Amino acid sequence: MKQPVFLEDPRVTRVNLEENRAYYVPFSDKAAAMTSPRELSDRVTMLTGLWRFGYYESALKLPDFLAPDFEVTSLGELPVPSVWQTHGFDQQQYTNIQYPIPYDPPYVPSKNPCGLYIKDVEVRLQEGERYYFVSEGIDSCACLYVNGIFASYTEVSHSTAETDITAYLQDGLNRFTLLVFKWCFGTYMEDQDKFRQSGIFRDVYLLRRSENHVRDFFVHTKRADGKVDVTLDVDVRGDAEGTVELYAPDGAKVAEGTLRNFACTVEQPLLWNAEQPYLYTLVLSCGGEVIAKRIGLREVEIRGTTLYVNGVAVKLRGVNRHDSDPYVGYAVDLKHMERDLALMKQHNINAIRTSHYPSAPLFLELCDRAGFYVVGESDCESHGTCTLYGDEYNYNTIAEDPMFEHAILDREQRNIERDKNSPSVILWSMGNEAGFGRNFQIAGRWIKSRDASRPVHYERAKPYLPLMDNKWEVPPKTDEYDMIDVFSAMYTDVDVWESWLKDTRFDRPMILCEFSHAMGNGPGDLEDYYNLLYSYPKFFGAFVWEWCDHAVYQGKTDDGCEKFGYGGDSGEFPHDGNFCMDGLVYPDRRPHTGLSELKNVARPFRITKVGENTYELFNTLDFTRLSEYAEIRWVLERDGEKVSEGTLEGIDALPQSRVTFTLPLSVPADGTVTLRFFAYRLHDAAYVKKGDCLGFSEVILRRVRESIPAVSGRVEVAESNTEITVTGANFRYVFDRLTACPKTMEIDGCERMTRPAELNVWRAPTDNDRNLKNEWFRAGYDRLVTRVYRMSASVTDAGAVITAELSMAAVIRQRALTIALTWTVRADGSMVFSCDAKKDPRFPDLPRFGLRFFFPDKADCVEYFGYGPNESYIDKRRASYLGSFRAKVAQLHEDYIRPQENGSHYDCDRVTLTGPCGYGFRFTAPEGFCFNASPYTAEELTKAAHNYELKGTGETVFCADAAQNGIGSNSCGPALRREYAFNRDFSYTLLIQPI
Ligand code: GAL
Ligand code: MG
Repeated sequence: MKQPVFLEDPRVTRVNLEENRAYYVPFSDKAAAMTSPRELSDRVTMLTGLWRFGYYESALKLPDFLAPDFEVTSLGELPVPSVWQTHGFDQQQYTNIQYPIPYDPPYVPSKNPCGLYIKDVEVRLQEGERYYFVSEGIDSCACLYVNGIFASYTEVSHSTAETDITAYLQDGLNRFTLLVFKWCFGTYMEDQDKFRQSGIFRDVYLLRRSENHVRDFFVHTKRADGKVDVTLDVDVRGDAEGTVELYAPDGAKVAEGTLRNFACTVEQPLLWNAEQPYLYTLVLSCGGEVIAKRIGLREVEIRGTTLYVNGVAVKLRGVNRHDSDPYVGYAVDLKHMERDLALMKQHNINAIRTSHYPSAPLFLELCDRAGFYVVGESDCESHGTCTLYGDEYNYNTIAEDPMFEHAILDREQRNIERDKNSPSVILWSMGNEAGFGRNFQIAGRWIKSRDASRPVHYERAKPYLPLMDNKWEVPPKTDEYDMIDVFSAMYTDVDVWESWLKDTRFDRPMILCEFSHAMGNGPGDLEDYYNLLYSYPKFFGAFVWEWCDHAVYQGKTDDGCEKFGYGGDSGEFPHDGNFCMDGLVYPDRRPHTGLSELKNVARPFRITKVGENTYELFNTLDFTRLSEYAEIRWVLERDGEKVSEGTLEGIDALPQSRVTFTLPLSVPADGTVTLRFFAYRLHDAAYVKKGDCLGFSEVILRRVRESIPAVSGRVEVAESNTEITVTGANFRYVFDRLTACPKTMEIDGCERMTRPAELNVWRAPTDNDRNLKNEWFRAGYDRLVTRVYRMSASVTDAGAVITAELSMAAVIRQRALTIALTWTVRADGSMVFSCDAKKDPRFPDLPRFGLRFFFPDKADCVEYFGYGPNESYIDKRRASYLGSFRAKVAQLHEDYIRPQENGSHYDCDRVTLTGPCGYGFRFTAPEGFCFNASPYTAEELTKAAHNYELKGTGETVFCADAAQNGIGSNSCGPALRREYAFNRDFSYTLLIQPI
């Protein structure tokens, strides 16, 4: 068979489809319509489950499947919904920007893989009823045949397609055949950053409709004087009349009327917002059918540069979410969606951008119900035009080309029409990274004409681009932006973003549709952006890129570890490596530490100390007063031990407001004293429980650093050409003259180290170091050699004092660090290390600097006072607090799929490492330090491509660092802020005590 011509015809994105309509499912019975899931409707026949399936590398290889004698048993089977790549067909491929096919629109490769789906279904035809075949998502396009007759064609993967198949059906057994192609003209507009998968990945079903029925409806809600006017546009098939009823959230009927001219005023409306997602039920009855649709009474409005929901300038604490799962690919089911939403709710997320295509209709209903603000994005991205030969960075190729006008408009229309009754959708997004130009102007103006109630978002439309320093982009050729209501940007640096927020030329509400690229260990900059979010009314939301790591499941290792593959792991070309592993949760939804970070940064309350016994509480929710959602308890700790605790009584705060309160505490006279305020939910709500912790605020009342106790007593020193040996009553330490560090630490006749200690600068580059690491390699930070110029020892009352002057430099390069250090070895076997280091300012940020020790892996238990329990860094520590923690070394390892630096603890005063070996060390730093204790070396973490490749060396690798470079989000975001960079001269003191 030849490939159908539609696939490559830019004017044809649909053949014989019904016009777009709002999502709904008809029932015959009103009670069922109001309460039952759709698959229980007597008018719905789900066509999910096993279908006959054949995979072919092109249409030319297809059998004559329309022949009446075609033997379906010659085909295999495939579940629907699913993508065929997770069932061993075709190939997994992850590509971000680059098109997976030659750029040759409207043509696609003649080797265009296709899947043939066949299902025989018994249909008892009922007199006078009409039948529709509905698919909610097929990638990339499909021809539908019913009983061997061509019925329809659809493109636009993430959209609903509906075909009236009444004329093709027969009473009894009917054969449904779907021929799905991997590529089509639409592929050029579906170049989203994801695994490229194919097939019927969302539900398909039949609808039985009465001859005359409600085809489409659009609910409008308008606030006025504390009331809400509800009106309805309906499109009815035939001349049927019908009725409308409106029920309040508690089930009481609030209005009724006739279908064609329904209007009502709700007197004491319970408005919908993400915190209180009150849903009314609209019941449309017509022609023997009942459609029940949950609607929200809410209003989105822009006044000046502020966006309001129900008159309140809301803040969107958002994430970008893809349909993605390592086991089933795009074919995520309801449970899967609910798991995502539950995790989001539990982590204080209140907004979702459906990046970069409409989510399944049921997902929107879940958002309506649970309370999320949704940026409903159309299935439209053509990022790959930026990688054409000789035309690099030209975003606007497709946006400007009239060949794409119809297809882009079709994509916008399918999105808006389907979800227009969803209260959670508060913004329409025209797509992502598809350039800007005439086609988007036309589409945007259509959206504005169709739905005046929601602002239009499109990041690529940059009304102020000439103001920006985005050098690598070709500015859009047009300056007409009347259809763009909000100014949107991605990955803008904090300071630049703030300067734009202040700039009055930016005269629309502003949003970061992507920020804080959450790849690997990160993101490190959430708090700074959130501070801006709460400071500028113009700035109404920020969406972390992105919710989940994308991966494909590749079986288990011999020891049972699940293997998650990324780009390149399936042998594909082109691919973009692990750039798909950039989520807040692992592919299997275990939270990354970045998600905990986001949770606490986005917590709905903040408490700071403003005076003696006086604190300020900021209720960051938009609609709910504190007393309605949280109980706040406090804990006072001295050196990590609880001293007292209590509950804040009689304190309330209106939404978005601050109150001060006094809390007289008897603060211990000495020690480090911290006060933490925790908020606990007062009520169960969707996906959350009464008593769940919403986060905490930390106030440090006093920080007392550790001091180094004096020790006196004599030790012996012996010097040779290669070593300096210090001997005490029960120990013998040998310092290597080549490294100025101990190579032997023998206590009670037993060697405590497995390898010599060393000065250490390297960390396994994080994904967020992906740019900086090139500089690190250029600087030779991965191969620094210590050169000791002078090293000498003397014996004093305080012990043996070894001083050394040295540098660290790499082959090819000049000195990066010039260091003067001292080791004071004292009679009790303790050592004080101190150093002054000068960094060549021309060199890049240091990954870290510290001492690295190797101990037997039996030293596996850590106790520390510092920022824990999560891994913490100078700019990624909001989920951690200053306290006393205990952990096994293995637990301190954060198992990123692509191994990298992890598990450090920031700003510690002391750390004790012990274990069943029966001995250990205590490390104390009077100025604070950070440490990692890990089964893995930075070298191994640097080299490994996947977590399951890590072996460990059977040692505990202990790094005691003066500092580490910050984390940032430079894997896609801006360069690390200078205040978090480790790029300076420094001194460092560390006491090491054997125990
Ligand atoms: C953005 C894009 C996202 C994703 C991200 C990098 O530019 O909109 O889809 O590719 O970069 O992870
Ligand atoms: Mg892109």
